[in-house]
Amino acid sequence: MVEMNEAAGFRIVAREDFSDVTYSLVIRHPMMARAAKPGQFVIVMSHETGERIPLTIADFDRDRGTVTLVVQAVGKTTKEMQQTCTAGTSLYGLVGPMGVPSALAGKKKVVCVGGGLGVAPIFPQARGFKENGAYVIGILGFRNKNLIFWQDKFEACCDEVILCTDDGSAGIKGFVSDGIKLAMGKHRDIDEVVAIGPPVMMKACVETTRPSAIKTLVSLNPIMVDGTGMCGGCRVKVGGEVKFACVDGPDFDGHKVDFDDLTKRLRRFAEEEKAAMERWSETCRMRGLVDEAGAGEPAAIARS
Ligand SMILES: Cc1cc2nc3c(=O)[nH]c(=O)nc-3n(C[C@H](O)[C@H](O)[C@H](O)COP(=O)(O)OP(=O)(O)OC[C@H]3O[C@@H](n4cnc5c(N)ncnc54)[C@H](O)[C@@H]3O)c2cc1C
Ligand code: FES
Repeated sequence: MVEMNEAAGFRIVAREDFSDVTYSLVIRHPMMARAAKPGQFVIVMSHETGERIPLTIADFDRDRGTVTLVVQAVGKTTKEMQQTCTAGTSLYGLVGPMGVPSALAGKKKVVCVGGGLGVAPIFPQARGFKENGAYVIGILGFRNKNLIFWQDKFEACCDEVILCTDDGSAGIKGFVSDGIKLAMGKHRDIDEVVAIGPPVMMKACVETTRPSAIKTLVSLNPIMVDGTGMCGGCRVKVGGEVKFACVDGPDFDGHKVDFDDLTKRLRRFAEEEKAAMERWSETCRMRGLVDEAGAGEPAAIARS
């Protein structure tokens, strides 16, 4: 496992903003790029006193020695990173790769489904299946055409791409589960479906394939703290058993996952998350006032 580099940090060499809330960070880390496998994730600390958050390795380039993370700004840490993590800055800590790599070999035909932000973490799996000789159908779902990203990357590695938007502004009008129905109607010999996205979306995918008993893997995103199986924070229920997503997953058999339990556990710290967000927003606002008076740091680098 790659350890935290406290002296130099981990250099962000490029950043791209896909929308108001979604951005990618390309980080120089040759050892991580060599070690990373599809399906794995890292734990990130953006600064010395920052929260540890898990993020999936959305891409890696062994030649360039980089790994790519795609982040959705949903709360205090991811919004703070949206402000502070620009090209040329460094992440304080990056630990990984963690989690069980996805099993890619031996499949003839697979469907890789990404919903919203889930399009990023499913990418290395789609490419990995292709490299292992499978026929790959990519299904990408977004709310509308303005949120689409990485369609070109999927077109480069998939045999077919089905683009879905909720409002029909690009591709077919419908959810990724409609895309799966299309693929199932056309192909009677699908070995496996892999779906990544919000729990409600993964649950819909699982219910779509259940009647045909097509093996369906989902990547679970419970709250994680250490990411090494020590704290028990990431407990999930799969087939009536308790598993730790960080060391037993994050990929699990979707037909056995208790999604209601996952959703309940994800909401456990809602009050604390809201309070952290409010404290941070207040700090930013106050620093903004200081800037207006001509003193202090720019609000863009504010940290609580
Ligand atoms: C294996 C794994 C891979 C992930 N990959 C990505 C990714 O590639 N890109 C991405 O944008 N997000 C990813 N996430 C989710 C990401 O970790 C959370 O969005 C982030 O931690 C939220 O932190 P916050 O302070 O910004 O928001 P908060 O306001 O603290 O939380 C917002 C919501 O995020 C979830 N969350 C909060 N803290 C954690 C935590 N420590 N671990 C997991 N979930 C948490 C909770 O559901 C919470 O309600 C992944 C989660 C897991 C478990
Ligand atoms: S994150 Fe602590 S046990 Fe999985």
